[in-house]
Amino acid sequence: MVRHAIMTDVPDIHRLITYHAEYNRMLFRSHADLYEHLRDFFVCVDDRAGGVVGCTALELVWRDLAEVKSLAVEDARRGQGCGTKLVGAALDEAGRLGLARVFALTREQRFFEKLGFRPVPRDTLPHKVWTDCIHCPLRANCDEIAVVMDLQP
Ligand SMILES: CC(C)(COP(=O)(O)OP(=O)(O)OC[C@H]1O[C@@H](n2cnc3c(N)ncnc32)[C@H](O)[C@@H]1OP(=O)(O)O)[C@@H](O)C(=O)NCCC(=O)NCCS
Repeated sequence: MVRHAIMTDVPDIHRLITYHAEYNRMLFRSHADLYEHLRDFFVCVDDRAGGVVGCTALELVWRDLAEVKSLAVEDARRGQGCGTKLVGAALDEAGRLGLARVFALTREQRFFEKLGFRPVPRDTLPHKVWTDCIHCPLRANCDEIAVVMDLQP
């Protein structure tokens, strides 16, 4: 099940993101940052055990643009549809808000392509998108691909 995150999910979200960030798969996020942006987050919950096994956030960038970020699924749960459901929830939310376009910066190009995203040159995204890069250890050596999904013609 995928649902909006609530305050008590923050330790689990933090654990998931920290785990993948330590492998350089995403940026670390502090507890303070997560509390501040909690309304952006969705979690995937194990229907039986009830624990959080995945998360993502839809962050608004501009009137027509949002980013899918901090997408993380527990290693033992990868390949079971959790990532698809999380991105689906983020896209539904983007549609509800009337956004025209959603993007992600990722090394998981094939996963996003399967969901209907398409790769675009990174410089087609507005500069505002790159503010997070200040916090990234790779900076100029970034190997992430930009992928976008157009929600409206
Ligand atoms: C990438 C990630 C979010 C995908 O979540 P997931 O729950 O494993 O994905 P799903 O089970 O929904 O997979 C959907 C499809 O994509 C495929 N897929 C998943 N990861 C893939 C990958 N790395 N390369 C190619 N295909 C992939 C699955 O095989 C599945 O295909 P199918 O529908 O033909 O069976 C997850 O593996 C993860 O947390 N990775 C580590 C953190 C990370 O890199 N996050 C992305 C930051 S942008």
